[in-house]
Amino acid sequence: MKVKILRQVTPFSESYWETFRAEVTGNMSVAELLDHLNYHDDIVDENGRKTTRIGWECSCLQGVCGACAMVINGVPALACETFVKDLKEEITIRPLQKFPVIHDLVVDRSIIQENLKKTDIYIGEYKPAEKKSTTEALKEHDHQYTAAKCLKCGLCLEICPNYVNGKTFFGAVFANDCYLVSTRNREKASEIRKYYGEHFGNTCSKALSCVDVCPMKIPTLASIAKMNRKILT
Ligand code: FES
Repeated sequence: MKVKILRQVTPFSESYWETFRAEVTGNMSVAELLDHLNYHDDIVDENGRKTTRIGWECSCLQGVCGACAMVINGVPALACETFVKDLKEEITIRPLQKFPVIHDLVVDRSIIQENLKKTDIYIGEYKPAEKKSTTEALKEHDHQYTAAKCLKCGLCLEICPNYVNGKTFFGAVFANDCYLVSTRNREKASEIRKYYGEHFGNTCSKALSCVDVCPMKIPTLASIAKMNRKILT
């Protein structure tokens, strides 16, 4: 199988495509494919020219840490959760484009945390509200649980037509955290509503492509609806 990878040696150097040939087997994921390409001491491109190891990140290899987020055949996805058998004859892999490249497929996603720090969106001391077990309360709890699964992988920002790194729109990852933190930290709720409007609500065009690429299937539209309702009430 032909594998084209967009490479970049340092954050300041020019990027370039390099093509490799790989033997793929059964249920190989793109993460395994990258490992396979990096396996030998002598790494060569498709023309047998010696090259360097491909830089990429992973930790869990089971879709939990978000480190292996990249763009595979034009679609932002996790390499460990994307399987070669589901892709075309030729695979193209490039780093997420909305984040500064550090090396090859490794990008700097610290802006996600920086935006949360800037707006002070963190749970802090959790003071649980009076326990309710109504159907409505249980549904709300389910949604909080799902929203809390966010990996901060950046795939939702990569696909979003409104998100530009370093600008005032912070994207779906921020909207979900606003919802989650405002339900857990009631003292901060009104401040969070203000930041939600400034950094999400006033700019989101509801393309909702973020929902399609989210590896944890977080129903961001529900978080948006809940936040909008909080603002109106
Ligand atoms: S390596 Fe953790 S999500 Fe892929």
